[in-house]
Amino acid sequence: MLKPDNPLRGNYSHIRADYTVEQDWQVYTAEEHDLYRRLFERQSSKLKGYAAEEFIENVHRLASDGLPCFDDANQILAETGWKIVAVPGLIPDDTFFTHLAHRQFPVTVWLRKPEEFDYIVEPDIFHDFFGHVPLLLNPVFADHLQAYGKGGLRAMKLDAVPYLARLYWYMVEFGLILTPEGLRTYGAGILSSGGEIIHCIDSPAPNRIKFDLRRVMQSEYRIDRYQDTYFVIDSFQQLFDETAVDFGPIYEDLKKLEPIDPSVVLPSDTLVSHTNPVDQKAA
Ligand code: PHE
Ligand code: FE
Repeated sequence: MLKPDNPLRGNYSHIRADYTVEQDWQVYTAEEHDLYRRLFERQSSKLKGYAAEEFIENVHRLASDGLPCFDDANQILAETGWKIVAVPGLIPDDTFFTHLAHRQFPVTVWLRKPEEFDYIVEPDIFHDFFGHVPLLLNPVFADHLQAYGKGGLRAMKLDAVPYLARLYWYMVEFGLILTPEGLRTYGAGILSSGGEIIHCIDSPAPNRIKFDLRRVMQSEYRIDRYQDTYFVIDSFQQLFDETAVDFGPIYEDLKKLEPIDPSVVLPSDTLVSHTNPVDQKAA
């Protein structure tokens, strides 16, 4: 017998003006709690040596038995002045940016189906909560994300959202960080993926390029497979500082340039080796 579709998934019929909904924790089924538990356990077992320490320490603080309750998480998040708000799925750019600018992170309320255990095309509660929320407890990253939200509202006025979106993609979703212990990831798109978390650190295939603001904002990305290129920061402070500059003139320059293909390495790129974290200049 066919099971009815998840009534929460993409259900925008009860949204408030800011696209938020109530998280009704009672509506989750025992099967969903169990699926979340399995996703959490599978992914937690892969973090050591792959995820940034700042992520690992906070993912454990937010851990729950089964699906997370947003009110409980918000008690912990008060520490950095952030809170999460429940949403039915993707929301418009301006609404998303406004939430971030107010230190509110939108988290999808519904969970994927068992068939989507390894891969899902749209964000669900596991991606959003497990992948994004832990770093909201890191003060520097937390401030960066708020600045990003304000920058998003500004980018809308400057007709530059696609450039700014690349920064989010390559940093917040797919970022790598070079630590004294080696290369690690802090990107939510990677941290919630069973395969890419290993691939992004161990595989010889992808390019790993030192973070350069203009380079990132000029680079296209693909949403339907592992990334060809990852950009690598040295610290969250570097990310915060280098994005604190006025993007206005940079957007104007970028509008005159061709986008860079995701698989291309430029002579000006500084490559980071995945086996030995010593910098190499591209040939
Ligand atoms: N500095 C950016 C601007 O001038 C705003 C921003 C900050 C964007 C941090 C992204 C991240 O528009
Ligand atoms: Fe995400």
